[in-house]
Amino acid sequence: MTTLSTYKGISPTLGNKVYIADSCRLVGDIRIGADSSIWHMVAARGDVNHIVIGERTNVQDGTVLHVTRKSASNPEGFPLLIGDDVTIGHMCMLHGCQLGNRILVGMGAIIMDGAVVQDDVFIGAGTLVPPNKTLESGYLYVGNPMVQKRPLSDGERAFLKQSAINYVELKDEYLQEAGEE
Ligand SMILES: CC(C)(COP(=O)(O)OP(=O)(O)OC[C@H]1O[C@@H](n2cnc3c(N)ncnc32)[C@H](O)[C@@H]1OP(=O)(O)O)[C@@H](O)C(=O)NCCC(=O)NCCS
Repeated sequence: MTTLSTYKGISPTLGNKVYIADSCRLVGDIRIGADSSIWHMVAARGDVNHIVIGERTNVQDGTVLHVTRKSASNPEGFPLLIGDDVTIGHMCMLHGCQLGNRILVGMGAIIMDGAVVQDDVFIGAGTLVPPNKTLESGYLYVGNPMVQKRPLSDGERAFLKQSAINYVELKDEYLQEAGEE
């Protein structure tokens, strides 16, 4: 199965020691930083705009990543920008939004165009983040539509980084199994 596809002459680019599960489909202008991992059945289309994924970020199984095209009323469109040490849980939908660093996106969450998630945010499972909302650093958000639930505990803040470390270790094991390191 082809995991990486070229669109209009642009192919995904991968940093050092990136893991891509062989059941994924990544198309077009997608730039992935070192030590990140893309797990099974992720679909990502960098076709009508670009997708940037930082370092040590994991995108878990069944997640969909997409973008919004440039237009007269929205000259930049909405690229999808994801920072470093971000955990994106199973079956999330991230569309044309911007995520900072050390964020956990709970399973099945949906984040819509123009939303901005600042550094050090925890998004509960199943949360809907409507378009153009800003999620403030240091808080837990849950619900549909989301509400700011409470400040994060010190333990939860530490877990945001730890979760990314756990996934770097796990993807290194997968790379080893595949004989790629
Ligand atoms: C939100 C979360 C962090 C728990 O936070 P918490 O403050 O410890 O919550 P609690 O378990 O004490 O529950 C507090 C209340 O919030 C509710 N709640 C818990 N998770 C919720 C969620 N995701 N969305 C909405 N409500 C939620 C509980 O039912 C409870 O309601 P009640 O007070 O009416 O009984 C957790 O449930 C969650 O969503 N984690 C994400 C896990 C994940 O997806 N990881 C990535 C994949 S590996």
